[in-house]
Amino acid sequence: MDMTKVQPRSGKHNVEDLDVLREGFDWEEMKKDFSWYKTGKVNAAYEAIDRHAENPNKKDQVALLYSAPDREESITFDQLSKQSNKTANIFKKYGIQKGDRVFLFMPRSPEFYANFFGILKVGAIAGPLFEAFMEQAVRDRLEDSEATMLITTPELLSRVPVSDLPNLKQIVLVGANGDTEGDNYINFEEEMAEASENFDIEWVDREDGMLIHYTSGSTGKPKGVYHVHNAMIQHYATGKWVIDFKDDDIYWCTADPGWVTGTSYGIFAPWLNGVTNVIRGGRFSPESWYETLDKHNVTIWYTAPTALRKFVSAGDEVVKQYDLSSLRHVMSVGEPLNPEVITWALRVLDLRIHDTWWMTETGAMLIVNLPSMEIRPGSMGRPIPGVEAAIVDNEGNELPPNQMGNLAIKKGWPSMMRAIWKNPGKFESYFINGWYVSGDSAYMDEDGYFWFQGRLDDVINTSGERVGPFEVESKLIEHKAVAEAGVIGKPDPERGEIIKAFITLNPGYESSDELLEDIRQFVKTGLSAHAAPREIEIKDSIPKTRSGKIMRRLLKSWELGLPTGDTSTLEE
Ligand code: PRX
Repeated sequence: MDMTKVQPRSGKHNVEDLDVLREGFDWEEMKKDFSWYKTGKVNAAYEAIDRHAENPNKKDQVALLYSAPDREESITFDQLSKQSNKTANIFKKYGIQKGDRVFLFMPRSPEFYANFFGILKVGAIAGPLFEAFMEQAVRDRLEDSEATMLITTPELLSRVPVSDLPNLKQIVLVGANGDTEGDNYINFEEEMAEASENFDIEWVDREDGMLIHYTSGSTGKPKGVYHVHNAMIQHYATGKWVIDFKDDDIYWCTADPGWVTGTSYGIFAPWLNGVTNVIRGGRFSPESWYETLDKHNVTIWYTAPTALRKFVSAGDEVVKQYDLSSLRHVMSVGEPLNPEVITWALRVLDLRIHDTWWMTETGAMLIVNLPSMEIRPGSMGRPIPGVEAAIVDNEGNELPPNQMGNLAIKKGWPSMMRAIWKNPGKFESYFINGWYVSGDSAYMDEDGYFWFQGRLDDVINTSGERVGPFEVESKLIEHKAVAEAGVIGKPDPERGEIIKAFITLNPGYESSDELLEDIRQFVKTGLSAHAAPREIEIKDSIPKTRSGKIMRRLLKSWELGLPTGDTSTLEE
């Protein structure tokens, strides 16, 4: 079998020919599918939920199919509309206004989604936090965003440093069973029991804020990537073209709403397109994920290479125990999709896996493989209509095909971030000569397919999660034994990269397995499990530039046994 090109499967797709769609494409045309195009009244929560709830043919369709080991629930568009009206009434009652930041720190559950849309309905900005975050990660994000309200659970409350957060006025506790104390705590269930199902939605401007996702760069604390309601245009369009949504699809996006995939494609794309969206609670195992696909007759699945690699390792016998015949379309995002995984899926599922490329900052898919397109395993695909992508040099000049450089996008697609929260300098630094420069290195072949090569900065991608080395280093040196730390991503066959830390010890500390484990746990319980280094190596010194910057590149070259390149700025 020629594995360099895999042809499309037969079937009727929403977009039969990318080149035809691209010709003369205008985002204006896409806007006609929204009710605000006619009414002039904008709110993404209305378009995603209420619009369907007002449609007699749609209102009783299951919007959210929740499936967790201890809870199963089907919620219709009508019910989700009413539940989010109730939460909006609660927020309004407690003084939340347009533009306020309301953060969510809770597990994926029906209540999460009712709260999420309630926040949008009052015109506030939602900030979803990954439930595995520990105190430092929660603190950094609440501090920077100056969130005034947090929705969380009693179990997670111990990780919220409430007394250190002067802007945080109110905490909504979900599942507190009546024992909330103090004026600043709001009992979710008690309020919901009394709240009205009717709410006059706050109409906003398309350029008004909707969402902040924090993400990591190679320096500094996590940055607040600010998205506006206008992003819905691209969430909807890519849902239609790339995810190929049809009215009766049952769709499952495996990402957590604490990450951008879990909002853009776990919330907006499916519901803007009016399809049934499976939300799975509980932990990952190949068996439990196959079971979810089988039990709910999932037709479209959006997941990540790390999970797919675990399916491959689990072996063919496991998959044979499940009926996956409903599945018609699979997509992947977040890290390089190995060609071997595509081969595996062709053999075992008789399906192609369609890679998609985008980032927290881009808000939605930009480079994709459509179901109707020839795919080239190892390539991320081609740009969507209305998006111009290129490989540029450091000055923002376009490079010819097959030359490696910065993957860049011409400024101005609908879902592009509009700011880095309270950090205009950082925002500006993404743009060179009219291009948004991604920080990924890639090349484009003669046919316009893009091929990912790596990151140009020190950002680590471990199991598809983006980790900033600076955050981990900062946490490491808070440990009493650690003097200095340098953190890199080390290639790993299953996780893509693992986090490796090089440290020096303070006087009086000796290397031991117990000490290393203690340091690892310190990061895990202080920051988050996915940011904890899997490997820690003790050094006599950490290489730094004369200006004191850690030379992570040099650490990486040492680790991989590569030439060390230019070390002229190295401190003595
Ligand atoms: O390096 C690229 C990698 O993930 C980065 C973006 O991470 P994040 O903002 O967390 O968003 C992830 C999901 C949208 C990119 O700069 N990445 C994303 N998709 C791919 C990828 N690397 C290779 N292939 C992809 N398809």
